[in-house]
Amino acid sequence: MNSELRFLMCPPDHYDVDYVINPWMEGNIHKSSQERAIEQWQSLYGIIKSRARVDLVTPAKGWPDMVFTANAGLVLDKTVVLSRFFHKERQGEEPYFKAWFEENGFTVKELPKELPFEGAGDALLDREGRWLWAGYGFRSELDSHGYLAEWLDIEVLSLHLVDERFYHLDTCFCPLEGGYLLYYPEAFDSYSNQLIERRVPVEKRITMGEADAVNFSCNAVNIRDVVIMNKASEELRGKLAAAGFEVVETPLTEFLKAGGASKCLTLRVNEPILEDRQAKAGLESRTILLQGHLLDSGLINRALDTIVEGGGSFQVLNFQLGEQRQSTSSAKIKVTAPSHEVMEELMSQLINFGAVNPEESAIADAQLEPVEMAGVAPDDFYVTTIYPTEVRLAGQWLRVENQRMDGAIAISGLGSGAPIARCKLLRDLELGESVVTGVEGIRTVRKVEARDGKPAGSQEFTFMGSGVSSERRVELMVEQIAWELRQVRDRGGKTVVAAGPVTIHTGGGEHLAHLIREGYVQALLGGNAIAVHDMEQAMMGTSLGVDMKQGTSVRGGHRHHLKTINTIRRHGSITQAVEAGILTSGVMYECVKNNVPFSLAGSIRDDGPLPDTITDMVAAQQDYARLIQGADVVLMLSSMLHSIGVGNMTPSGVKLVCVDINPAVVTKLTDRGSLESVGIVTDVGLFLSLLVQQLDRLTSRYQVSA
Ligand code: ARG
Repeated sequence: MNSELRFLMCPPDHYDVDYVINPWMEGNIHKSSQERAIEQWQSLYGIIKSRARVDLVTPAKGWPDMVFTANAGLVLDKTVVLSRFFHKERQGEEPYFKAWFEENGFTVKELPKELPFEGAGDALLDREGRWLWAGYGFRSELDSHGYLAEWLDIEVLSLHLVDERFYHLDTCFCPLEGGYLLYYPEAFDSYSNQLIERRVPVEKRITMGEADAVNFSCNAVNIRDVVIMNKASEELRGKLAAAGFEVVETPLTEFLKAGGASKCLTLRVNEPILEDRQAKAGLESRTILLQGHLLDSGLINRALDTIVEGGGSFQVLNFQLGEQRQSTSSAKIKVTAPSHEVMEELMSQLINFGAVNPEESAIADAQLEPVEMAGVAPDDFYVTTIYPTEVRLAGQWLRVENQRMDGAIAISGLGSGAPIARCKLLRDLELGESVVTGVEGIRTVRKVEARDGKPAGSQEFTFMGSGVSSERRVELMVEQIAWELRQVRDRGGKTVVAAGPVTIHTGGGEHLAHLIREGYVQALLGGNAIAVHDMEQAMMGTSLGVDMKQGTSVRGGHRHHLKTINTIRRHGSITQAVEAGILTSGVMYECVKNNVPFSLAGSIRDDGPLPDTITDMVAAQQDYARLIQGADVVLMLSSMLHSIGVGNMTPSGVKLVCVDINPAVVTKLTDRGSLESVGIVTDVGLFLSLLVQQLDRLTSRYQVSA
C-alpha cells in the first residue's frame, strides 16, 4: 500500500454492453457475462489496491460505461477538467463524476458545450510531468487542447488518432515511469509519429505490433516498475523487462467487449505537479472565409474534410445560407492545427477552395525569397494549382500569369514598380527572380460554382457536372460535346485533341481525320505511336499489322509499322511525305493539309522514331504547352500518359473531356477538383463515330434552318 498513489474506480454493478459507440462493441451487445465481469474487475481492483489507494465512485443505473473512470475527467493536482462526452450514450455520466470531484475537494473546470473531450482516456501525462499528451480525431476535439494547456498550465502535445479501433489515446499509448513510452505507432498519423519520435528518444520507445495492440496491451496501469494489463505477448514482456518493467497480467476480456481494459477502468486522481512548467499548446488557429454555392457544389464538405483529414479541427463560426436558388452562401470557419507546420499545409490546401482571410486588413503581403540557384526554388515555395491565383505584393493583388499546376510563382521586375507574377516550372526559375513561399498573401479566384455543377453563367456545356459516365449516358453526353465543339469552332475558338494509338486501333482514325478536315480541331498532341499507326493504316491498310477492314492479321504485318517509319524517315518529315504524295489520307495527312499544328512527344519505347517526334522531353513539354495556350476544350482520347501531361499544363476553366475504356483512367484524369472536366467510359473508336454522327446531324439541322 502506497499512499502517494491514488486511483478512482467504479464497481461494475450496472456494467453491460448496451449500445455501440466504438468498433469493439459491435456484435457484443449483451454478450458480456455479468459474473465474469465482476470477477475480472475484482481482481484488477485487488492488484491495484495492494499497491495504491483506490477510491470508488458509486455506479449509477442506466450508465453502463461508468466503470471506465478514465473518462471521468483529467486530473492534475487539485484541478480536474471534466469530460464532455462525444456520444449522448455517455453524457449522463457527467453529473455523477462531477459530484464525486466536488465532494473530494477538486476544482472542477468545465469545457464549453459542444466541445467534446473524454478525460484521461484522451489525455496522458508524461510520467516525468514535463508535458501532456492529448489525443484527438475520434472522441476529443482538437480545440479542447487549448483549454487544457491554459487551465492546467502545461505544454500540450496533440496526437492525431487515425485507426477507429484505437479511438481513445489510452488504447494505443501509455507513458511509463522513467520517460519510457509504450505505444502502437500505426494508430497515429505520420505527423504525430514524428512528434513522438522528437520527444521520446529511441531507447525509451517501446513499440508493439497489432497483435498486442488489439489485446489492449497499451491500455495499461503503470505503478512504479509494474505494468498491469489484460495480456502481453512473450515479445512485449521481453521488451518491457529489458526496460526494467514487470508485467502483471489480469484478464479483462469482458471489458474488451466494450472497448476498454485496465487503464480505462481506472483514473489516477493524485497527479502531482512535478516540475516547473508552462502553459503551451503548439496549437495554432486561423479564421478563413469561404464563399460560393457551398452546399450544392459540395465545396464546404470538401473543405471541412480536408481540415480533418489533414490533422486539424474546425469550428464553423458563422454560416450564411444563400436564400434563393441562385444566391451564394458564405462560411466563416475557425481552423485549428496542432502545429505551425500542419497549419501551413492545411492553408495551402484551403487556398485552393478559395479560402480567404475574412479581414482584408489582416492580410499580409506574400512572402518572397530570391532564387539562389537557377532551376531550384527556395524550400518552402508555394506549389501552384490549376486555379487562377493572385498574390499580394505591396498591398496590391496581382494576377499570376501562365497558370498551371505543379509550378512555383516567380516574381520578376520587383524594383521596377510593376512586378510580374508568373507560374514557372522549377527548371525554368532564373537568378534574379523571387519565389512566393509560405501561404500568406495568396488567394485563388474560383469561379462561382453553380448549384448543378456547371460554371455559373454558362449556358453552354450543360454536362452533368464533373463525373464519370458510361453506357446509357454516353450518347447523351456525346450530343452535348458535339454541340460544344460546334460552338467553339463557329466562334473561332480552340479545341485541342490529345490522343493515343488506341484511337487508331479502335477504328477512330477516320473519324478523327474527319473532325480535323471539318475544322473542329486546332491542335493535335500525341506520341510517336499514334502518328505511326495512323500512317501505317493510310499507307498499308493495317494498324500494328491488323487489317482494319477485316479485323485480321496480315501476313508480314508486324513489319508494317517499321516500314512506315522508314518511309517517312526517307522523306524527312510527315509534311514532306504529304507533299511528295506518299501520304494521302488519315489523321496526320489532314493535319498537314489543314495547317493544324501537331506535337509528337517521344518515349523510351518508341520505334524509329519518326523525324517529327521530339525526343528531348523538356522540349516536348514546352511544345505541348505552346499548343495548349488559349484552348477552350481539350479532348483526351485514350492516352493516360499524354493526357496527364496535358492536364498538368492546363489551367482551370478549360473544359476537359476524357474518353477511355478504363474507368480508373477516366477517374484519375477528371478528378482535378474542378467542375469543367467530364469523363466518358467507352471505346474511343465508338465515341468518335458517335461524335461525327452528331456533328453531321447538327450540320444538316443548321442547313435546313438556314
Ligand atoms: N465503451 C466505452 C466507450 O466507448 C469504453 C471506454 C473506454 N475507456 C477508455 N479510456 N479508453 O466510450
